Amino acid sequence: MARPSSVFFLQLVFILTTCTAKSVQQLEKPKAAALFIFGDSFLDAGNNNYINTTTLDRANFWPYGETFFEFPTGRFSDGRLISDFIEQYAGLPLIPPFLQPGIHQYYHGVNFASAGAGALVETFKGYVINLKTQLSYYKKVESWLREKLSNDEGKLILSRAVYLFSIGSNDYTSPFLTNSTVLNSFSKSQYIGMVIGNLTRVLKEIYKSGGRKFAFINLPPLGCFPTIRILKPETNGSCLEEVSSLAKLHNKALSKLLYNLEKQSKEFKYSLFDFNSSLRKRMKHPHKYGFKEGKAACCGTGEFTGVFSCGGKRIVKEFELCENPNQYVFWDSLHLTEMAYKQLAEAMWSGTSNPQLVGPYNLKELFRIS
Ligand SMILES: *[C@@H]1O[C@H](CO)[C@@H](O)[C@H](O)[C@H]1NC(C)=O
Ligand SMILES: *[C@@H]1O[C@H](CO)[C@@H](O)[C@H](O)[C@H]1NC(C)=O
Ligand SMILES: *[C@@H]1O[C@H](CO)[C@@H](O)[C@H](O)[C@H]1NC(C)=O
Ligand SMILES: *[C@@H]1O[C@H](CO)[C@@H](O)[C@H](O)[C@H]1NC(C)=O
Ligand SMILES: *[C@@H]1O[C@H](CO)[C@@H](O)[C@H](O)[C@H]1NC(C)=O
Repeated sequence: MARPSSVFFLQLVFILTTCTAKSVQQLEKPKAAALFIFGDSFLDAGNNNYINTTTLDRANFWPYGETFFEFPTGRFSDGRLISDFIEQYAGLPLIPPFLQPGIHQYYHGVNFASAGAGALVETFKGYVINLKTQLSYYKKVESWLREKLSNDEGKLILSRAVYLFSIGSNDYTSPFLTNSTVLNSFSKSQYIGMVIGNLTRVLKEIYKSGGRKFAFINLPPLGCFPTIRILKPETNGSCLEEVSSLAKLHNKALSKLLYNLEKQSKEFKYSLFDFNSSLRKRMKHPHKYGFKEGKAACCGTGEFTGVFSCGGKRIVKEFELCENPNQYVFWDSLHLTEMAYKQLAEAMWSGTSNPQLVGPYNLKELFRIS
């Protein structure tokens, strides 16, 4: 259970580590490897609070954040995200969003993720920080680290760091959520090729700059997310196969990409977490994992609580809020509860590759290897 005292403690550690000049000395050789976070709302800790966007891509209002932080941080959940738990397990302080004012040091890493972002620049263009822009921010941080430390020390931080990604969900759902006709212009495999191609470019750039340890969350069964289920009334609430099949093809291509990068690049190491199967199990058998509800969201309105109205500040103003988010897998119609994220983070951290859940390394191993 989340305790306010632990929030306070985390914030205190964070304030101390960011603000006192003295601690910077000690931080030059931090014990834990740094964590750089890229991607979308599954990992955005609040970057979108600082860009010109709409409430569709923001979660900086109640009841977001109600469980753990007790205030809305911009995270799309009632509490912590997968990345917040990973930081805790790795012995890191809470990693702040890159755009948060007053962030002056990056020894422990930083978070570039932006809700709504995709690997394609076109995805929700104008409202999000796309992956390419996230990479350009990373390059600023990289220069900062190399400048602050001797070149060798900077290099060591970059090579020991873990680079965590969640990307693709918005590239495949946005054509269905907007009236975009992009999927009429490309075949499925062409479109997936573009997403994977853009991701590959980013990974190669990070590798070139000294990054060695990469961690991925694959795509969930997107067609079964509450918002997607209610998109076409004629499907009567069943999963939208068109969307899930794109996610499935993407996941195959992602596995292949990482396998090939490891073969091609001597020092490339990675951890791939099967978010898809972990989430499917919880949706199908919620009781086995301590939940009461696996399909409908805690916060929102309509069938499956599938209308993206949590908080009442978006297009639809009505919303219902469940009493205990811990009993739900889905927090709002597109995101999970802290309880679900915690279980997934635990599996990523110490899960095994047999049965195939996370591999070749789990995150605990990935953080430790050099
Ligand atoms: C923010 O975006 C809106 C619409 O996209 C635009 O009208 C407005 O000028 C922008 N504001 C700033 C400060 O850039
Ligand atoms: C990625 O995708 C877009 C298409 O949306 C393209 O214009 C862009 O140049 C691509 N490359 C990178 C590195 O993002
Ligand atoms: C998509 O188009 C339909 C019909 O033209 C319109 O009713 C709907 O509001 C549009 N949706 C979006 C997200 O633009
Ligand atoms: C849709 O689902 C409802 C409730 O699950 C069921 O009663 C109804 O017969 C279904 N309709 C169709 C066309 O499948
Ligand atoms: C998720 O896993 C199931 C069962 O292994 C598979 O049938 C489905 O295609 C997968 N979906 C995605 C998006 O990978």
